Amino acid sequence: MKTFARALCGAVSMIAVTAAAPALAEPKAEVLHYWTSGGEAKAVQALQEAFAARGGEWVDAPVAGGGGDAQAAVLRARVLAGDPPAAVQIKGPNIQEWAEAGALGDLTAVATAQDWDKVLPEAIQNIVKYEGKYVAVPVNVHRVDWIWANPEVLAKVGAEVPTTWEEFNETADKLQAAGIIPLAHGGQPWQDATVFETVVLGIGGTDFYRKALVELDMDALGSDTMVAVFDQMRKMRGYVDPDFPGRDWNLATAMVMRGEAAMQIMGDWAKGEFAAAGKVPGVDYVCASTPSDNGYLLNSDSFAMFNVSGDDNVEGQAVLAELILGTEFQETFNLFKGSIPARTDVPRAEFDDCAIKSMDDMVAAAEGGTLLGSMAHEIAQAGAVRGAFIDVATAHFNSDMSSQDAVDQLVKAIKLAQ
Ligand code: GAL
Repeated sequence: MKTFARALCGAVSMIAVTAAAPALAEPKAEVLHYWTSGGEAKAVQALQEAFAARGGEWVDAPVAGGGGDAQAAVLRARVLAGDPPAAVQIKGPNIQEWAEAGALGDLTAVATAQDWDKVLPEAIQNIVKYEGKYVAVPVNVHRVDWIWANPEVLAKVGAEVPTTWEEFNETADKLQAAGIIPLAHGGQPWQDATVFETVVLGIGGTDFYRKALVELDMDALGSDTMVAVFDQMRKMRGYVDPDFPGRDWNLATAMVMRGEAAMQIMGDWAKGEFAAAGKVPGVDYVCASTPSDNGYLLNSDSFAMFNVSGDDNVEGQAVLAELILGTEFQETFNLFKGSIPARTDVPRAEFDDCAIKSMDDMVAAAEGGTLLGSMAHEIAQAGAVRGAFIDVATAHFNSDMSSQDAVDQLVKAIKLAQ
């Protein structure tokens, strides 16, 4: 399959990224990422500082826009112009696509030296390896299917964090009757899709999620279960405030923090915002996985090293790759970011109850077969297929489209996108 990346890069072979650059090389790296919110910025600053401590010159290339679609467009333009950045925040099938195009450096040397095979879970290895070689370095595991709630606001209607979707709706109805915004939400397509995939997981279950959003099974996509998913999404639309269109995700998190809304459904980068504001889990806010049969929606950020010339850049890439999966940095970064370490041997002592729950649930889900890649965050799907899911989910959320019409559109759109 001639991908966009292959068309763009033509036939280029993979270049080894090793720390074997001439002794005079001074590590340098231009880093393209989209981490600009409070918690995100603190986490990426920790990486800058760690790189500087290793004598590295960091050239920051942030592209604002949660979810990363704007950043992906900048990346394509940069590669098209023959000027790729040295290091790029990237995820899921996009890594495979750029690697297939020969655009990425081979991290085998660093991976062998740090024994990545021993410390990375299989699910993460599968994301960052291409044809058996490491072509990206994972920095974290973000869980997507979380509810972040303000316990004080819930207490106003005598409620706790809901554990079923029926309970979610009952609690939301009570909150609304009391004049409280039940669901803080940012009206952007990727955020609509984030809520959508947690509802697919919860209403349909893990097997249904796998069939519909991973395997693209047409019977599942066109089923009554998917109609029930859109019915629940219609309810969710009724639980957000009128000012939600276009709102950034972290501003919705701030509404929960300030008690202006009771709950938000968002990946645990939201926890990075609570942490950046000095909020305490279990006191100022509570975390709970969205209701499901022990599913776990996995998202993981990585950095890929694009083929760039110049000893300083190559040295910079090697230092970055080594640094990112170092145990110490894995702890520092993920405490700021709200995620958990990609490597499984980082001491837990500094991590809070939400993180510990994420660590334990991920292991249990991997063992129980309920660990699933996020569609909205480009682990299970990317490109046109992901785009089709997002288009239909957001079109339904922002209109009075019927659930059956949404299902019909989804089936059509996924067929076209493949
Ligand atoms: C995700 C990304 C996270 C987080 C979030 C909001 O796609 O993987 O690290 O930053 O977007 O921007």
